Amino acid sequence: MNKPKITVIGSINLDMVTSTDHVPVQGETLMGQNFEMIPGGKGANQAVAAARLGADVNMIGRVGDDLFGQLLLDNLVKNGVNNDGVKPVTDCHSGIATIIVSDHDNRIIVTPGANEWVTPQYVERFLPMLLQSDYVILQLEIPLETIEYVTGYCYENEIKVILNPAPIQPLPEVIQEQVTYLTPNESEVKGVQASPDQLIVTLGKEGVKYYDEGKAQIVKGYRVEAVDTTGAGDTFNGALAVGLAQGWSIKQAIQFANAAGALSVQTFGAQDGMPTLEEVKRFLQVRERFE
Ligand code: RIB
Repeated sequence: MNKPKITVIGSINLDMVTSTDHVPVQGETLMGQNFEMIPGGKGANQAVAAARLGADVNMIGRVGDDLFGQLLLDNLVKNGVNNDGVKPVTDCHSGIATIIVSDHDNRIIVTPGANEWVTPQYVERFLPMLLQSDYVILQLEIPLETIEYVTGYCYENEIKVILNPAPIQPLPEVIQEQVTYLTPNESEVKGVQASPDQLIVTLGKEGVKYYDEGKAQIVKGYRVEAVDTTGAGDTFNGALAVGLAQGWSIKQAIQFANAAGALSVQTFGAQDGMPTLEEVKRFLQVRERFE
């Protein structure tokens, strides 16, 4: 396969994950079952997902000058992601996600820290990376003005962009017009007004909806036993970019991304379960034989 070139501009977090058998209500203290600190952040997760699937990936983002900054930088390299576009911010903490995992699902609070410093002026230093990319992937854990700047630049330079509008917030019209694809989930799609042909909507177990010349199409998902869904959407987005960057049809790219997402939920932590290209191919071969 051609090695797709992907640049991810987005958040890099340390996920502080507590597992519990039920979620505390206001004023309640309860004992958790397990605690882990795991590299995460929607941007970094999407970069790692695409790199594991064989893409050439640049990450543009920021970490803090705290204990976690170097760990997060090293983690990108360990996963084959070029971190030349990731510089520490002085006197600032790294992005932190406080995550509660309960009943195989999660609740997340993100405190952005250094991610707030992924400004248009910062990204400007790395524009040559964008010019060499088949796809640029964005999410909404960095300032919205940066999203607007990047989508405008990519539009002018005919660089394709996937915007994963998570966590959802009101999106200026110009951003929605200039991106190639938006990938909201069922609830995020309510805040999106893009044209149907730009939409790839993840519907959880029901699969993924996209539009072919205005007509809705569903690509079914794969049913698997979920251990932890954290990062499943990020795996989907990274894999989708890998498929589209190779010139596959939207349907083929979604099938591939669905398989990658299904594999990712079978392991604890956002990045740990992200599959390699070989693992996705094997999964698809077995599923095609038996379904
Ligand atoms: O999408 C999952 C990610 O959201 C976590 O890794 C966490 O860091 C938050 O950004």
